[in-house]
Amino acid sequence: MIAISLSPNTESDDVWVAIKTFCSPWTWKDGKSIGLVENWFRDKFKTDTVYSFNSGRTALYAILKSFTIGTGDEVIVQAFTCVAVPEVVMWAGAKPIYSDIDNSYNIDSSKLEKLITKKTKAVIVQHTFGVPARIKEIGKIAKKYNLVLIEDCAHSLGATVDGKLVGSFGDAAFFSFGRDKVISSVFGGVAVINKIQRSKDLKILKKLKNFYNSLSTPSSFWILQQLLHPILFHLLILPFYNFFELGKVFLVLFQRLKLLSFPIQQCEYAGKMPDGFLTRYPNGLAILAFNQLRKLDRFNRKRVSIARKYGKTIPGAIYVRYPMQLRSRNIIVKIAKKKGIFLGNWYHCVIDPFRCPLAAVGYRYGSCTNAERLAEGIVNLPTHPGMRERDVERVIMLVSSP
Ligand SMILES: Cc1ncc(COP(=O)(O)O)c(C=O)c1O
Repeated sequence: MIAISLSPNTESDDVWVAIKTFCSPWTWKDGKSIGLVENWFRDKFKTDTVYSFNSGRTALYAILKSFTIGTGDEVIVQAFTCVAVPEVVMWAGAKPIYSDIDNSYNIDSSKLEKLITKKTKAVIVQHTFGVPARIKEIGKIAKKYNLVLIEDCAHSLGATVDGKLVGSFGDAAFFSFGRDKVISSVFGGVAVINKIQRSKDLKILKKLKNFYNSLSTPSSFWILQQLLHPILFHLLILPFYNFFELGKVFLVLFQRLKLLSFPIQQCEYAGKMPDGFLTRYPNGLAILAFNQLRKLDRFNRKRVSIARKYGKTIPGAIYVRYPMQLRSRNIIVKIAKKKGIFLGNWYHCVIDPFRCPLAAVGYRYGSCTNAERLAEGIVNLPTHPGMRERDVERVIMLVSSP
């Protein structure tokens, strides 16, 4: 079976780390791994200001609050994104304004200036699939209009532009360690603030620190749910996924029993924040993330080598997934499933997932036509580290057969 989104980064050593952590509940909330993860980012991004949270969403919220972005403000985000981005803008009290994308699935910088009004405070630049956006060009526009430039690096840890890491171009950046991101600890994220020079910037730091200090660590039960994810997936769900769909039954059962969590909760589809969502990053998940960070270069090298087999690649991109436009997308996805190949659906809807009512997150259908067109035909090919040569060949055969 080849599955793009079912715990794709987890290797056997990660399962062992999860089992050991599961059996050591005294390490779940506090410990040195939080510092290890944050220091890894401090070192890579050459900044002292790094804070870890339970998710990329909380990291983005922390950034918006620190830069005093809220009620009455507008924040530009791209269409062809996950609801996890615009909903956070709404949580902060601001309004998401959607920009269309170009054919690289990133914000179309030529359309950006037209969206800027007196209310615009920030632009969030998503490096979709780990392919860098035109960050230098967008940086110039942000500077011209005095906008806060926030990089959404949820898909792009390790991607570069002219040898410089994405995440170091903006005023701030956030990363995600969600279950199918570049590295995974099921939930988790980091906020990075760059360029702290002036006294105004010190106020931003103070706000961020105060926000962090106001948060608590997630409950032991929540941490237990996340630690069970790699363990149950690798011992019970994945090995039996295609065996009379037994693995799928296990997955639904464990979710019903609340032993496994959902990545996004129902109320988020309407732009609402789940109760008690904003929390710090617990040590138990930082242990998982640090084990993955040590493998990041190998993971990304493998992703790029697979992407090259699928087609054209862009220098500096890390391809957490490989995007492809297919005319008969839905048919091929169905055929693939029958063959045990689960292709990806980022993003079959301009504001994903499908269940998300677009109006609830302020999107007007027809406003970003290129994003809508690309969402109709997109399929993501898997590039994860567990793929073997013959798996890649099977995927190529599938998408290249008429
Ligand atoms: C592009 C993008 N940005 C931000 C996020 C939010 O990250 P997290 O799930 O860690 O909150 C996600 C994932 O959900 C995403 O795909």
